[in-house]
Amino acid sequence: MATPSNASSASSSTASQRWSSRWLFVLAAAGSAVGLGNIWKFPYIAGENGGGAFVLIYLVCIAAVGIPIMVSEVLMGRQGRSSPIHTMRKLAKASGRSDRWSILGWMGVLAGFLILSYYAVIAGWAVSYIWTSGSGTFDGASAETVIASFDAFLASPMELIAYQTGFMILTIWIVGRGVTKGLETAIRWFMPLMFLLLIALLIYSFNSGGFAQGFAFMFDMKWEAVTADSWLIAMGQAFFTLSLGMGTMMAYGAYVPDDANLGTTVVTIAGLDTLIALAAGLAIFPIVFANGLEVAQGPGLTFVTLPLAFGQMPMGSLFGALFFLLLSFAAITSAISLTEPALAYLVEEYNAKRQRVAITLGVICWVLGLGTVFSFNIWSDVTFVGGLTFFDTVDYFSQNILLPLGGMLITFFAIWLLPKGMVETQLGIEKPIIALVWRLVGGVVAPLGVLAVFLSTVWPMLSGLWQ
Ligand code: TRP
Repeated sequence: MATPSNASSASSSTASQRWSSRWLFVLAAAGSAVGLGNIWKFPYIAGENGGGAFVLIYLVCIAAVGIPIMVSEVLMGRQGRSSPIHTMRKLAKASGRSDRWSILGWMGVLAGFLILSYYAVIAGWAVSYIWTSGSGTFDGASAETVIASFDAFLASPMELIAYQTGFMILTIWIVGRGVTKGLETAIRWFMPLMFLLLIALLIYSFNSGGFAQGFAFMFDMKWEAVTADSWLIAMGQAFFTLSLGMGTMMAYGAYVPDDANLGTTVVTIAGLDTLIALAAGLAIFPIVFANGLEVAQGPGLTFVTLPLAFGQMPMGSLFGALFFLLLSFAAITSAISLTEPALAYLVEEYNAKRQRVAITLGVICWVLGLGTVFSFNIWSDVTFVGGLTFFDTVDYFSQNILLPLGGMLITFFAIWLLPKGMVETQLGIEKPIIALVWRLVGGVVAPLGVLAVFLSTVWPMLSGLWQ
């Protein structure tokens, strides 16, 4: 049931909407979490950082930093039962703190815009590669051909825009339909399909002849490949992959039924996300090894190395297409979550129709996304601070600055500023020892970990500016 009986039908206001069950929340949050971050990014950064040892560091970051921040976001969302901006306002008031804490909500709205603007562009690449792979373009192709085809695609703004536009329209259409009709329906379809595709790809990769090597790469500890930077990359990834730091989980948390246990729910979500990132690695690396290719390929791993590998294998065009379909499904359930903080706020604040707000937001994001499209072709020479292109700048500012800053302040607020009883009741904590562990991990380890990441990214930038 989406709306309790006292809510009028037009009321798409946050306060009255609920996920149909705890499980739908788990699936929706996992849908948000599992995205390009898991399937495109995790394997390539693991590849660049030597595999096994990096995977372990990543798991530590998920457990020690990611889970406490997600718990904080969801619990604040459920307590506030509004968009992140209004939730922050309410909670600041309830705890006798300054109204300025609502800036956290605004930062989230901004981060959501920025991330979605480029997310739609890259998701568009995945969609386009469903056809490119499926039509056999890469069958038996040489590395030069695959690279040339990717370069030619990136060089064509019109093509990139077409796919970006299609992806944005689908996203806006889904979110405009509301929590139950839009979000839940999409999740009910896309999540099971995604699991099936992933299993099919795992079986395929298991039979590729490179499985043992791929497995060893992911789980053998090679500490020599780990640098101080690896820790920062792992932590940044833990944030991004769990959709933390911008109020997405707070917005989704607002719709969580009262009786759901938040601790176990969040651990399940983080567990699913991690499982899928590992499974994506296990699906990709064996195929790369089986074809004697390099794993440390950076962002091109998915769009160059993988098509090349599929091109050498039996039924490669079919499984290549299935892989990009998987990536597209994962991306759409994440994209819809990026709009929720802003959407819920505008609907509440102006009592506006969800659909109209969704279209307005979509158009702004689409225009902003053009900057990312052009960064790969006509604006590839236009750079901002630090020699970054428009896309790199938006990516850097949102992922390395807004998300860590937001995440750190959210957990800090949840643990040190919210009235004590409120948190314990929300989490169902009864034993004092558990309360203590929660305060230590969530209130000290997580914010300090994030602070380290934050300073390490901001510091070099600031000192660069002063020089
Ligand atoms: N978690 C998604 C991924 O791994 C991306 C994403 C969705 C996200 N919503 C977010 C990232 C909110 C940060 C904040 O691809």
